[in-house]
Amino acid sequence: MTNKARIIAIGTEKGGVGKTTTTINLAAGLALQNRRVLIIDTDTQGHVATSLGITPEYGLYDYMVEQVPLADVLIEARENVYLIAGGESIARLAIRMSLSQIAPEQQLTTAMSPLLNRFHYILLDTGPGRNVVAINVAFFAREILCPVTPEALAVDGMKSYLKWIATFQRQSGVELKYILPTDVDARLKQTDEIAGQLRTAFQRKMCAPIRTNVRLSEAAAHHQTIFEYAPNSRGAEDYAKLVERVIDDE
Ligand SMILES: Nc1ncnc2c1ncn2[C@@H]1O[C@H](COP(=O)(O)OP(=O)(O)OP(=O)(O)O)[C@@H](O)[C@H]1O
Ligand SMILES: [Mg+2]
Repeated sequence: MTNKARIIAIGTEKGGVGKTTTTINLAAGLALQNRRVLIIDTDTQGHVATSLGITPEYGLYDYMVEQVPLADVLIEARENVYLIAGGESIARLAIRMSLSQIAPEQQLTTAMSPLLNRFHYILLDTGPGRNVVAINVAFFAREILCPVTPEALAVDGMKSYLKWIATFQRQSGVELKYILPTDVDARLKQTDEIAGQLRTAFQRKMCAPIRTNVRLSEAAAHHQTIFEYAPNSRGAEDYAKLVERVIDDE
């Protein structure tokens, strides 16, 4: 593989809007299209590993701070899907990053440089907050995918995240690439209104929505991706469309 990986952060300020669900199922869908994908979980909740049924021995903290070799940190979660796990130790990673004397915002970029040629995609799942880990994510990622549920608070969370990213956009070079409406119930009037507002504001960046589908949460509870758990569900159909959209931009 000669080309460098596309590095996409799945981020927004609001919690519970489908960041982890999107990270996992986008990764799984890309892998089904023969892309080699690395997920880096930068959230203290460590939900990527849990949702994929993995109990990681090591994670991002161990690689970046304890110098555990990459071979021990990189987990083959599925065919073509690799994981560097998050979890509670991400809080300790944040402290170490902020104490760094040299370029604290570039720690993740430096640490991940040996991996860029080994994957087609690197997807970063993110947690809440604007701490040094989130800044490192924004400096390492080249593209941002922002999931948003059709509620005023989620739109606010998205706007304030994007405003924050914009304050160091020139230094980081990261770009908002995709707005992804998630958990969308088209029967609700407010869904229509908010979807309309988002389309006007973001135009080509808007992706086809991920509809509300209980199979998506069941899949995570069964430690499976949507393509494993319910390949004929609406959730699988919608995430497959997102995969197509992302691949179209290669
Ligand atoms: N399209 C959907 N339809 C139904 N349920 C969904 C959908 N997307 C996500 N969910 C469920 O909503 C909950 C929150 O999703 P998820 O964990 O992906 O969000 P998150 O943004 O990563 O949350 P956090 O901020 O806690 O990290 C989960 O239980 C998930 O299974
Ligand atoms: Mg999450």
